Amino acid sequence: MMENVTVMREQAMQWIKEASAYIHDSFQSALTIDTKSNASDLVTNIDQEVEKLFINRIRVAYPEHAIVGEEGFGDEIERTDGYVWVIDPIDGTMNFIHQQRNFAISLALYIDGKGVFGIVYDVAANDMYYAISGEGAYMNGTKIARVEEGYLEQAVVSVNATWLTENRRLDHEKIAQLVRRARGTRSYGCAALEMMYVVTGKLDAYMTPRLAPWDFAAGAIMANEVGVIATTLKGEPLSILHKSGLLIARRGVHEDMLTNYIVCKE
Ligand code: IPD
Ligand code: CA
Ligand code: CA
Ligand code: CA
Repeated sequence: MMENVTVMREQAMQWIKEASAYIHDSFQSALTIDTKSNASDLVTNIDQEVEKLFINRIRVAYPEHAIVGEEGFGDEIERTDGYVWVIDPIDGTMNFIHQQRNFAISLALYIDGKGVFGIVYDVAANDMYYAISGEGAYMNGTKIARVEEGYLEQAVVSVNATWLTENRRLDHEKIAQLVRRARGTRSYGCAALEMMYVVTGKLDAYMTPRLAPWDFAAGAIMANEVGVIATTLKGEPLSILHKSGLLIARRGVHEDMLTNYIVCKE
């Protein structure tokens, strides 16, 4: 079983390298950009083609496995039984379009609802993050150290400025108090990478009220391996069946933010 998982993880990394080469080539040609639910919800032909690339590879190697992908070329699942691949072909599409950097491929394998391995690849920086459940987390082949407990006064917190303005999801005045108490704030526009920054200690927390399983499926497995806590904004476990908010942070900071600053309106 463990051997199989290692083989599958290596195979997935090969597919990611292939997808990355395809994305790099796309920088030379014009993108087709469409909008989805609203004017800033963007999708390109590359998001779709990269998702199809992964799905084709998985279907050939593992025809009986289920696949959940953001762009909808995979399966609709209602249960977590069996093997489920969860894929975000490009996380941070807006960055991909505007900056050609700060975007990632996120890919995870779950068996019966439990994370088996997760891979996040920062395409422009060529940084490969992965974890196998129970075997630790790695960045570019080097084991990532366990993340220690911390304090909000010393924390760099990633939060998008949207959540400091009046909105229907969070009490924005409490978020303003959080921002004042933290050491500093950042926002990168790529959930999977922001999770990797918490896992590698570059950030102490990242919170957002609106994510989907493909955004956090790989990051949650990574977090678990280094002692970082990843939950919904209500402190509940994340699920690959449901969209939810996300709070990922080192111990201490997670508890403080959850208890004192995150007030969900819904
Ligand atoms: C988005 C990015 C963004 C986050 C959004 C996600 P996408 O993913 O991770 O940082 O704030 O909620 O939907 O659409 O670029 O894959
Ligand atoms: Ca998207
Ligand atoms: Ca995403
Ligand atoms: Ca995406």
